Amino acid sequence: MKISPLFLALRCCILLWVVCLTACQSSQNTDQQTSQESVAMAAIDTTKSDSMSVYLLDIKAKLTNLETIVVNDDPVFHAKKTYRAVPFQAVMDQFLAAYKNLDLAQTQIVFECEDGYNPSMSLAKVLDKKSYLALSDVDAPTGQEWINPTKEGREMKIAPFYVVYTDVPASDVSFKWPYNLVKISLASASEELAVLFPKEDDTVVKGFELFKTNCLTCHALNKVGGKMGPELNYPKSVTEYWKSTDDIKAFVKAPSSYRHDCKMPAVTHLNDKELDEILRYLTYMSQHKPQKS
Ligand code: HEC
Repeated sequence: MKISPLFLALRCCILLWVVCLTACQSSQNTDQQTSQESVAMAAIDTTKSDSMSVYLLDIKAKLTNLETIVVNDDPVFHAKKTYRAVPFQAVMDQFLAAYKNLDLAQTQIVFECEDGYNPSMSLAKVLDKKSYLALSDVDAPTGQEWINPTKEGREMKIAPFYVVYTDVPASDVSFKWPYNLVKISLASASEELAVLFPKEDDTVVKGFELFKTNCLTCHALNKVGGKMGPELNYPKSVTEYWKSTDDIKAFVKAPSSYRHDCKMPAVTHLNDKELDEILRYLTYMSQHKPQKS
């Protein structure tokens, strides 16, 4: 695997920066400042954010350039929605300026949601559209920032942040619309996913790609990926303990026909052939697990 020297250099800078930050913070703590602001500052664990990631609640007060935007067909609410929001580009420029030093084509933005949903997308793709970080729903009752929609009888929590686009159709499933969002971070696409790439069998690369865009946001393989759903490969692969891959396919198409109150949404946008590709990839991965530690 090839890691660019620039990326390595950047990593070193971040390390240094984190060290400095920790030092600054402890010196700040010895200062006898009692203003409201310094109390609030101290409550924030700034050591967790670095130039490659940002906790959005930490910066909420600094998001001042709010606009009122309209999303004609919001895929989460299935309705026309109006939000108070900040252009995503402005958030990046102000708080994650390090992205300018990275190879945009190789950079993934990882959205971390409170419920463990961890979708990621090409950063270039997000910045190429009219993307926004929404802070509140204009239609919410006074005194309330958000309205929570219900899906299959369950209330979805949208707060504290929601990523929306004004120029992406709801039908384009290659765009992520993460809500309940708490953190964004940057990762090198090649590095993060290298461990999941099927190096030994190029006939399952298609399945890998499909898994990456449709499943990895919620499911980890070999401990890499989202945490909303269960890990699917380690220590035991789903292909080892389910009756058959056909059974897994049927589950993926209609999870609630298997489990009452199932938290996995039905996958309806992939056809049988695509699901077969995914299952062949999962079967391949069952033979490629990390060493037990
Ligand atoms: C929005 C998140 C989400 C996405 C996307 C998603 N899943 Fe799931 N999945 C879940 C959750 C949550 C569960 C646990 C369901 C439960 O038992 O309530 C689950 C359960 C499963 C299980 C059962 C695992 C077991 O043995 O308990 C399989 C298999 C599975 N998912 C496969 C897939 C595949 C393949 C895809 C992509 C085509 C996918 N999932 C996409 C959230 C997701």
